[in-house]
Amino acid sequence: MNTTIGSDIPQAVSLLQEGKLVAIPTETVYGLAANALDPEAVVRIFEAKNRPQFNPLIVHIGSWTEAIKYANPIPEKAIQLAAVFCPGALTFLLPKRNNIPDIVTAGSPMVALRVPAHPVAQALLSQIRFPLAAPSANPFGYISPTTAQHVLDGLAGKIPYILDGGSTELGIESTIIGFDEQERVIVYRLGAVTIESMEKIVDEKLLMAPKVAANKPVSAGQLASHYAPHRPLLLGDIVALAGQFEDKKIASISFCKRNDLPATVQQFILSEGGDMNEAARKLFDVLHRLDALDIEAIIAEPFPNEGLGRAINDRLVRAQANMK
Ligand code: TXA
Ligand code: MG
Repeated sequence: MNTTIGSDIPQAVSLLQEGKLVAIPTETVYGLAANALDPEAVVRIFEAKNRPQFNPLIVHIGSWTEAIKYANPIPEKAIQLAAVFCPGALTFLLPKRNNIPDIVTAGSPMVALRVPAHPVAQALLSQIRFPLAAPSANPFGYISPTTAQHVLDGLAGKIPYILDGGSTELGIESTIIGFDEQERVIVYRLGAVTIESMEKIVDEKLLMAPKVAANKPVSAGQLASHYAPHRPLLLGDIVALAGQFEDKKIASISFCKRNDLPATVQQFILSEGGDMNEAARKLFDVLHRLDALDIEAIIAEPFPNEGLGRAINDRLVRAQANMK
């Protein structure tokens, strides 16, 4: 199959109407979209990504007012949070209605709903009559794509069309939340919407979903090894880690500081000015670029554990978990 990159929304619409796959830009990462109401179209997503079918997909809708078509009941706190973060990088786990096929939720009674804010995703969703099931548009387990080219690098030949919307603005996936029986907010995946910003809205401490064993992801974003580059990635003190590699060629990723390291280490600084948003935006792109270099390993330092730093640390830890 020939894979084309373009900005032709009507073409994307007709492919999706035919049950085909289209990679689409969102403000977090690119998604690999299909008609969420058509199980045969959704199966193609799993095939193209090589993704196990026990891993459910986020359903993208054009506006929060559509949530009630696919989920019921919707807790009061979801409505409160949606008023602030929809459209945006927040995904809600809610009890699904019967119109959402089981393959989309991997048999779970809960559906993950998100309203992407990217203007191209919005334009596309306004021109179709169905929601879009879309995981990140990367081969399963690999780094999420933040450009159309990243999608092409990973999925060329497997999908017909990539809708180009430029580099994604946030660069890290959506935050996934759900609700317990007392309607307290539970965070299933750290992401572009920070815990602090949600706590301000609901005026309570959010709960973190318990970690689960690898390969048994009872819920969102919980596979241990994920977002992983092909090179081994080690997380810790960069200067100490660099010492373990002596004169081998490696690369380092740090937040804002250049370290005093041997010339064999190529240093990547995510934000010279110490801006966490910039660091998040660049993280996956830097990981993609490092993977193309002739190096033995990537070393990285943990970020300050607050705000977006928590989501960045989560992705670095999972990139590291890929190591054998
Ligand atoms: O920013 C994002 O969320 C991007 C863009 C494209 O929207 N999407 C994304 O999808 O990151 P994906 O499939 O790579 O990650 C979604 C996570 C998966 O870990 C999946 O297990 C979880 O959400 N998930 C989806 N539906 C679920 C459900 N019904 N119950 C529990 N977890 C669910
Ligand atoms: Mg993903």
